[in-house]
Amino acid sequence: MASASLMKLNASSSQWIGQNSFNQSHGSSSRLSSNRVSFSIRASGSYTDELIQTAKSVASPGRGILAIDESSATAGKRLASIGLDNTEPNRLAYRQLLLTTPGLGEYISGAILFEETLYQSTTDGKKMVDVLREQNIMPGIKVDKGLVPLPGSNNESWCQGLDGLASRSAEYYKQGARFAKWRTVVSIPCGPSALAVKEAAWGLARYAAISQDNGLVPIVEPEILLDGDHSIDRTLEVAEKVWSEVFFYLAENNVVFEGILLKPSMVTPGAEHKEKASPDTIAEYTLKLLRRRVPPAVPGIMFLSGGQSEVEATLNLNAMNKTPNPWHVSFSYARALQNSVLKAWQGLPENVEAAQKALLIRAKANSLAQLGRYSAEGEAEDAKQGMFVKGYTY
Ligand code: 13P
Repeated sequence: MASASLMKLNASSSQWIGQNSFNQSHGSSSRLSSNRVSFSIRASGSYTDELIQTAKSVASPGRGILAIDESSATAGKRLASIGLDNTEPNRLAYRQLLLTTPGLGEYISGAILFEETLYQSTTDGKKMVDVLREQNIMPGIKVDKGLVPLPGSNNESWCQGLDGLASRSAEYYKQGARFAKWRTVVSIPCGPSALAVKEAAWGLARYAAISQDNGLVPIVEPEILLDGDHSIDRTLEVAEKVWSEVFFYLAENNVVFEGILLKPSMVTPGAEHKEKASPDTIAEYTLKLLRRRVPPAVPGIMFLSGGQSEVEATLNLNAMNKTPNPWHVSFSYARALQNSVLKAWQGLPENVEAAQKALLIRAKANSLAQLGRYSAEGEAEDAKQGMFVKGYTY
């Protein structure tokens, strides 16, 4: 009985393939007729090949992502750390310094921008997206609208931004963006509740489908926050649950796995746990999670740094790349690439060169870690200082 109905379903789904029922024009979604179920629909239409190419280019050997997509409020915190006011000229000066670093493209394959930067030009009048393109760096864009409290949960949050996302994404594509980022969070000390995990996974999946439909490779980022005193085993347990739901809903939304990138947290003990874990232990747990939950069709895993020190984040990445992986395992760091740069810059024009040198040092170290060839020998003491902030908002 079961196999007979399965055969019937298979027959009807292959009919759907044969009928070529989905619309191939840019930006239009596939449409199913009222109550038929199809198992073969792909939502990204004619962007599929381009999405796969984009994802491959970001996930290219020895390269990773520079994340500078801080909202204006968070950018203000970065600037305040060196005594600067949160003004547009100051944000521009800082981001221009980062993106115009000579030789950056050797180590950096993509840059995640905040909307302000995507539409900005340098003080010499060159569009930021062109600065990136010239270095073979793919421009990306943060598309989520941030976290707000999730009613009915245990003091948890959900991520806003789906309303109007399709039209915004189409505009970002026109402006030169080729990938997108949506960061939602899961808190271990708050539960996490089944509701919060489901909401995070569903939101990421809807965003991913909409991004692909508009030519943007979605970076899927359910950040499992470092906050808490839990063990590394507890983090693994929660991460497995989160990623199983994320992939369930990605599949339900017909997201093309070859055209996405992931941005997970590494599997570590909570920041306030009594014992620290070594890079080898973090690599062992994190790779266990990835092997159990991430299909090899996914081209790239681009980790966030989450408050680890610059050197810690690099050492952990290196430990994961000592043996070959089915995916490109790399970085998409904000704090762990920017900390030394800010300290070197201090907002002074005469320090721009030194700050760019600091960025190149970090970018090269992470490039080596992507290839499993990094050693922390000779690293500055500053780069070893943790950046964890309890209850950090991005
Ligand atoms: P961090 O590397 O600072 O955790 O940044 C995470 C992020 O989502 C940036 O895009």
